[in-house]
Amino acid sequence: EKEEYKETYQKYNEMLQTLPKGRGWMSQHVLQYQGFWFNPDIGLKGAMLVQNHFKPRPTDIFLAAFIKCGTTWLRTLMFATMNRSLHDISSHPLLNTGPHGCFPCLDTHNFSDCPISDLEAIPSPRLLATHIPYPLLPESVIASGCKFVYIWRDPKDVLVSMWYFLNKLKPKEQPPLSLDEAFDLFCKGISDYGPFWDHVLGYWKASQESPDKILFLRYEDLKREPSVYLKRLAVFLGQPFTIEEEKEEVAQKIAKFCSFENLSNLEVNKCGVQQFNTEVAVENSNFFRKGQIGDSKNHLTNNMIEHIDHITKQKFNGSGLIS
Ligand code: A3P
Repeated sequence: EKEEYKETYQKYNEMLQTLPKGRGWMSQHVLQYQGFWFNPDIGLKGAMLVQNHFKPRPTDIFLAAFIKCGTTWLRTLMFATMNRSLHDISSHPLLNTGPHGCFPCLDTHNFSDCPISDLEAIPSPRLLATHIPYPLLPESVIASGCKFVYIWRDPKDVLVSMWYFLNKLKPKEQPPLSLDEAFDLFCKGISDYGPFWDHVLGYWKASQESPDKILFLRYEDLKREPSVYLKRLAVFLGQPFTIEEEKEEVAQKIAKFCSFENLSNLEVNKCGVQQFNTEVAVENSNFFRKGQIGDSKNHLTNNMIEHIDHITKQKFNGSGLIS
C-alpha cells in the first residue's frame, strides 16, 4: 500500500474483523460500516479513502446514487451537457470511451494501484461519481460548497436490476443468488450501499435543506421527459441552454444521443471493457440491460411488490418524497 495511506489501511484491516457481516450479493459477504453495508473490497476501501484522504474543491460536481438507479445514463448526460461547447455529437468522446470513461468513480479507488490522489490532476470543475451515502461523506466535502446531482428510482426496479447485474459480476465458481434471496436481503437493507431507503433519504433531506446544492432527480421522470429534466440539470450546473441552443434543440439532441437505444448500440458499449482498477473490470454491456420503467413486474410476485411498496411507504412517510 502507498505510504500516505498506511494509517487508513491499518484501520481498515483492524475493522475488517469487527464489523457486522451480512450475506453478499457478489462478494461472499458485505460489512456494516457506519450504518450502511459495503463490499469489503471495493466499497469499504473507497469510502475510507474518501473519508480520510479526498481533497474536495468548491467547484466539484458529484453524481451520487444508490447502485442501479441510472448513474451510467446521468453520467453521459452530465458529461455531454458540461462539455457541449467542446464536442460535436458526430465526433463525441462517448462514441469511443464508454460512459464510465468520461468521469471517475470515487468508490473504486484502493490503497495500491488506484490512489485517491489521482483525482488531484483533474482540472476544475471536476465531475465525480459516488455511491457513498450522504451521512458518510466527510464534513470537508459538505463544507466545500460543492454540488450534487442525485438520482433514485423505484426500489422494485432497483432490486431486479441489481440482481441481474451483481449475479453477472459474481465469480463463476460461486452459485448465483436466487431472486428470493436477493429480495429478502434487499428488504432487510443488506446490499452494497444499502439500505436503499436510508441512502435516498440521506440525500433527500440534505437537498431539502440546500436545494441549490443538491439536485434530486428520479429515473422515471428523466425517462418520461428527458429534455425537460436535462434543461433543469443544465441550469443547476450553471450552464443553462441559451436561446440560440433552444432554437437548435441542443437539449433534445443530447438527450437522444444519451438515450438507452443509442448508447447501448454503440460498438464500445457492446464490446468494450471498463477497467476501474487493476482488480475491477466490467464489460460495458453489463451497464445496459433494458433501460425501462417497471420491468420488476415481470420478475416479482404480487406479494413481493406489495411488501416493497409497504416498506417504501413506511420509510418515506412524512418525508415529502412520495405523496
Ligand atoms: P435495468 O437493469 O433496469 O435495465 P446504473 O447505471 O446506475 O448502474 O443503472 C443501470 C440501469 O440503468 C440499468 O437498468 C440500465 O439498463 C439502465 N440504463 C443504462 N443506460 C441507460 C440509458 N441511457 N437510459 C436509460 N436507462 C439506462
